[in-house]
Amino acid sequence: MEDLSPKPGDLEQIETASRDEISALQLERMKWSLRHAYDNVPFYKNSFDKAGLHPDDLKSLSDLAKFPFTAKTDLRDNYPFGMFAVPRGDVQRIHASSGTTGQPTVVGYTAHDLDVWATVVARSLRAAGLRAGDLLHNAYGYGLFTGGLGIHLGADKLGLSTVPISGGMTPRQVRLIEDFQATGITVTPSYALSILDEYAAQGLDPRKSPLKVGIFGAEPWTNAMRREIEEAFDMHAVDIYGLSEVMGPGVANECVETKDGLHVWEDHFYPEIIDPQTGEVLPDGELGELVFTSLTKEAFPIIRYRTRDLTRLLPGTARTMRRMEKVTGRSDDMIILRGVNVFPTQIEEVLMQVRDLAPHFQIELHRKGRMDAMRVLCEACEGVGPSARDAAARDMGHRVKQTIGVSVEIHVSDPGGVARSQGKAVRIIDNRSKGD
Ligand code: DLL
Repeated sequence: MEDLSPKPGDLEQIETASRDEISALQLERMKWSLRHAYDNVPFYKNSFDKAGLHPDDLKSLSDLAKFPFTAKTDLRDNYPFGMFAVPRGDVQRIHASSGTTGQPTVVGYTAHDLDVWATVVARSLRAAGLRAGDLLHNAYGYGLFTGGLGIHLGADKLGLSTVPISGGMTPRQVRLIEDFQATGITVTPSYALSILDEYAAQGLDPRKSPLKVGIFGAEPWTNAMRREIEEAFDMHAVDIYGLSEVMGPGVANECVETKDGLHVWEDHFYPEIIDPQTGEVLPDGELGELVFTSLTKEAFPIIRYRTRDLTRLLPGTARTMRRMEKVTGRSDDMIILRGVNVFPTQIEEVLMQVRDLAPHFQIELHRKGRMDAMRVLCEACEGVGPSARDAAARDMGHRVKQTIGVSVEIHVSDPGGVARSQGKAVRIIDNRSKGD
């Protein structure tokens, strides 16, 4: 794989600033952000007043812990534009969640916000190893989802040649990567696997593809999956994180030269880790729920937003800004099976170790008598016969029992038997209300 490390002069000054410089900038910006939210969004005025707090009570970064959290329900309650802190006419862009599980959540950006977003995405793409002139195949969905258009903004700022292909029509994805000689791809890791299958279907060797780096996010994925994808395409695979409520893609990104977790772009987004039960702030290094406060956003300031994503904060390495470990999963996706907590990423980790099974999977939950039970739906690799499938299923079940500590049923289907995503994978199918 090509060395894509940054050369002297490639980085913005803030990326190598001292911790003291970063903290001073954060404090100044945090004061502004709290005041901006309090003065312009009735929701924040009420919530601060109720807690007996005023933006002036923030004297140090640690004082933020006194301020109340914001949750997804607060955004829904203020649908559609109640959380905006600027007149509607100053909002240049609106994105929203799909709303399949309820009221959609709506977010907005001023011209300045779009410029900041472009800056942090450009920084992310550069951290991943792309440079002006690279050709980017952007297969995140375009539309209300922040993935496609967010990446596009940063790619423009960095000076890439962008192919705005969006998700879907997988044969065409492969064709254009090859015909246009894409050097970078932005896509969910699960859809990258579908693209990989399509290489095989077209009789093409993915290791000979022009791709140098893939920038994967929008859903949890493991280091085991990274190795699988890097090996299959002979390219680097780095992680990009973000969420609409905080900005979109580009809140944090891995550096290609270290691949040791995602540097949070702390000059714009202030991270905390809390105990999800008590709400108490945990020290760096401890696993808990990630909480974000925006430091510069105008249209949609967000104060102490509970992401429900579980991770830990680690000191900087390739950059001075702190890293977040690869996300273990969302607290909503944690399965409690006979008292044991199980995340889909743990199943992925195990699956990657089993020969003869493809990297696609779903988890089906059902009731067995009065107990919850889990079935892992996976599929055989091409050309694997019945006895090797049985052996693979036994191996998988055994490894899950050994490493996670629960007994699960493994169902191995024919190649192509597991439902594919064209964006975020659906990992859990909950049939528990349907009985046995
Ligand atoms: O998924 C933004 C994005 C687009 C990020 C493209 C990266 C690339 P939402 O649709 O609002 O925004 O979903 C946000 O997705 O709270 C996490 O649960 C999950 N997520 C995003 N990136 C990662 C990642 C976009 N790298 C939610 N690892 C977040 C794990 C991720 N989970």
